[in-house]
Amino acid sequence: MSEDNNNGREYILDADSELRFEIEQKEAKVFLTLISGLAELFGTELVKKKKYEFGIGAKVAIFTYQGCVLQVTGKMDVCYISKETPMIQYINCHAALEQFRIDAEEHDKRGPVILVVGPMDVGKSTLCRILLNYAVRVGRRPLYADLDVGQGAISIPGNIATVLIERPASVEEGFAKTAPLVYHFGHKSPSGNSVLYNAVVSKMAEVTLQSLDANKRTKSSGIIVNTCGWVKGYGYKHLLHAARAYRARAIFVLNQERLYNDLLRDVPSNVHVVLLPKSGGVVERTKELRHESREQRIKEYFYGNIRTPFYPFSFEVKFQDLRLYKIGAPPLPDSCMPIGMKAEDNKKKVVPVTPTPSLLHHILTLSFAESTDENVIGTNVAGFCCVTEVDMERQSVMLLSPQPRPLPPNALLLWSEVQFMDNHA
Ligand SMILES: Nc1ncnc2c1ncn2[C@@H]1O[C@H](COP(=O)(O)OP(=O)(O)O)[C@@H](O)[C@H]1O
Ligand SMILES: [Mg+2]
Repeated sequence: MSEDNNNGREYILDADSELRFEIEQKEAKVFLTLISGLAELFGTELVKKKKYEFGIGAKVAIFTYQGCVLQVTGKMDVCYISKETPMIQYINCHAALEQFRIDAEEHDKRGPVILVVGPMDVGKSTLCRILLNYAVRVGRRPLYADLDVGQGAISIPGNIATVLIERPASVEEGFAKTAPLVYHFGHKSPSGNSVLYNAVVSKMAEVTLQSLDANKRTKSSGIIVNTCGWVKGYGYKHLLHAARAYRARAIFVLNQERLYNDLLRDVPSNVHVVLLPKSGGVVERTKELRHESREQRIKEYFYGNIRTPFYPFSFEVKFQDLRLYKIGAPPLPDSCMPIGMKAEDNKKKVVPVTPTPSLLHHILTLSFAESTDENVIGTNVAGFCCVTEVDMERQSVMLLSPQPRPLPPNALLLWSEVQFMDNHA
């Protein structure tokens, strides 16, 4: 039910329903206020009378368990109330996780580590956000691991990351991304280097599982692991690998019975595999939109957003001072490999990169490793730069960087396939 007045439009929602809207037009702004009742956006409670602002690209649902009145002003492309939502199933998942957490707390064990899997655009990230929000709202401090190298929300595309969730996601900006643990991968899809992908996932799983034991509250809260939408062939094998690496207690499968059945067959019987419906509100994104959201994520890394703008630096680095490497040498036939080496090892090899004009627009990852003698793949990441100019005459590149010059001494940079057109300066 809705009603127009001078202050925009009022929507009256019954219990267990949600208001969904999408904004597609540039410059469009939508303001939303909770007038009465209780409501939440993907698990974050709305504050009554507060004005929330949404811009282009927003696709949201405001759900209410008890019923509420919302006021909306501004132009939306799609806006409707739906009573068909899977929220009750999702909150039941949360309740089940809470049982694990209570048990873990009592016996000083690790809390539940769960994987959220499913094809692209089924609401995996949204379900993670809901479960994490519900967890912090009852006092938990879970870890959020994002293995999605294409559309990850914690770091920038081409990396996997983990962050400690200490408070609910902001309605407008999502979770705070403070002090994440990031590992470099360098490709937009695990298919870019399957061997390396599994290696970095194993490393992050090992490190974060260990870190659980250091903090009692986080230990019993557990880890929620988000995954890529690539679920066929090798993509499926990556999911099995991740489930093993994290010793997952449960796997929540969104919207795909076939994947659910495959997992039931392939994971040990003590892992709970749960099939969940996707929300009718989740809409498929085109390839272009996915590309745009990757760009947007990188832009935000360097420039922040309207509420919190960042001012990145730009400086020149001579080729001779650029210690640039890439992970994965071109494949060699087994007959050409040194004795004792497998083709697989080649995929994890750290090889020097000679600067050429083709470096332009590429993201370079600043590793915490100081030399290639260290385990570069197993070392986490300090930050990212972007190549904004390659000058072959001057034998130098211009780098866009969140930190001022110079690069740290002995800075070791890793080439990424991911590119970013910097036209924001
Ligand atoms: N109930 C809903 N109503 C409207 N939009 C939704 C709903 N749930 C999720 N979305 C939106 O759908 C898009 C895709 O969801 P997302 O969780 O990112 O999917 P995935 O991680 O599986 O690719 C996101 O923009 C998200 O905000
Ligand atoms: Mg996602």
